[in-house]
Amino acid sequence: MSLQVRTSLAVSILFICLGDSQSIAQEATYQEQYRPQFHFSPAVNWMNDPNGMVYYDGEYHLLYQHNPEGIQWGHMSWGHAVSTDLVHWTHLPLAIPETDSTMAFSGSAVVDWQNSSGFATSDKPPLVAIYTAHYPNQRKQNQYIAYSNDRGRTWTPYENNPVIDIGMADFRDPKVFWYAPEEKWVMVVALPLERKLHFYASVNLKDWEFLSSFGPSGNADGIWECPDLFELKVENEPGVSRWVLQVDQGSEAIAGGSGGQYFVGYFDGTTFTPDHLDTYWLEYGRDFYAAVSWSDIPAEDGRRIWLGWMNNWLYANDLPTHPWRGVQSIPRSLTLRRTGGELRLIQRPVEELQILRRDHFRIEDQLLTGTMDPGDAFGGKALEILAEFQPGESEEVGLRVHVSDDEATIIGFDTQYGEIFVNGRRSGNIDFHPSFPGSHRGPPQGNDGPVRLHIFVDWSSIEVFAQDGSLVFTHRIFPRMESDRIELYAKGGPAHLVSLDVWKLDSIWK
Ligand code: FRU
Repeated sequence: MSLQVRTSLAVSILFICLGDSQSIAQEATYQEQYRPQFHFSPAVNWMNDPNGMVYYDGEYHLLYQHNPEGIQWGHMSWGHAVSTDLVHWTHLPLAIPETDSTMAFSGSAVVDWQNSSGFATSDKPPLVAIYTAHYPNQRKQNQYIAYSNDRGRTWTPYENNPVIDIGMADFRDPKVFWYAPEEKWVMVVALPLERKLHFYASVNLKDWEFLSSFGPSGNADGIWECPDLFELKVENEPGVSRWVLQVDQGSEAIAGGSGGQYFVGYFDGTTFTPDHLDTYWLEYGRDFYAAVSWSDIPAEDGRRIWLGWMNNWLYANDLPTHPWRGVQSIPRSLTLRRTGGELRLIQRPVEELQILRRDHFRIEDQLLTGTMDPGDAFGGKALEILAEFQPGESEEVGLRVHVSDDEATIIGFDTQYGEIFVNGRRSGNIDFHPSFPGSHRGPPQGNDGPVRLHIFVDWSSIEVFAQDGSLVFTHRIFPRMESDRIELYAKGGPAHLVSLDVWKLDSIWK
């Protein structure tokens, strides 16, 4: 049983878990410096990858890699939260704890609609989690399953675990989905050191048969982890779809450190065949890792939605937050769009986030020369911003958020190279790790069309969806509380601000 009490004045959470053998009381205020106001973060302690993403009976489940005992990586277990709207989250007790011999590493969950596993205890389908058991005292990882017959409130490990063991030290992060054409479950799972993904099939989630292997391909400079595989519709091409295979890379990604890439191609139930050999990066920012999509979103909704851990293994254990460490991105819906003959992944903030919008301010049709302060009304630390610029004669045009006299995070367009960038070098506290400060650029967008930015600013992050979601940057930033203005600017010549819309966003903790 879990009880969450929110007091609006103190904006605090009293979070009491009364499990059968444990009783924990944890408190966290949502006024803490750097506490995200509309992103999911654990009340206390460490969080990394999202896990076990599944929609069932009106609830989106978000489970996650969690250290219940500390603020650094360790004792890996599955934490748990649920939401009915993808925006407000209710914390639940630990779902899958570590055991004496195994940690619970990343994995997925599905609704076993036909009770293929036989785990059901009523006419309701069980939820089945498929995850990696990591043996800290042996060089071994293998795949486990656990099931729930009470809407994910309690999970029971299967008595005959592991369900796949190939005797490897690094073999992890199974993502399972139902492959309807052949009425079977398919798993994609990583062999990180080989830079390979293996596909397996099962009819009951317990017995798995090896299907095929993919990789190394694209970029294989860093270890491969946390894959996902799904079919997506192509925008503006009715009836056309392709498969997307996404894989994360522990180091050497495009913005330095960890990051994700994806392949567009065909999956025929056995083998994935990519359409291309070059590397497609998921995004050009620093802090988006281990993204996985929700399973079982109803067909009438039809969206493929995911979120990722807003972090980078370069400095993840050093982020200057307390008493928690780790934040998930906003949920994003995915499509494919044909760009220059190639199909590219498009990420867009889910529409549900619009319920957070409060005061709205707009200006349009302004000449921009130098720095323009649109006024206090536009400022804030939790904002949604839509901006459209015509670069005109400028060398650089854009906006700055979390601004004070000596701090600003810059989102700009470099006219000469046609690139969009996010510069966090003066974003606030950058000293906690030498690799943290940086400025990151995305590939040329042309330099004569409009620049369109959709930005979500929270107390310690920004997410930039540029050019209608085709170019994405996700960054953690650690500004001071008083760095709360925004500015528009053009350098080297005038630019034209077509429009600026700013919404102040509500906290989800109110
Ligand atoms: C990715 C990862 C996964 C692993 C988990 C352990 O961030 O390394 O491969 O399952 O974290 O916490």
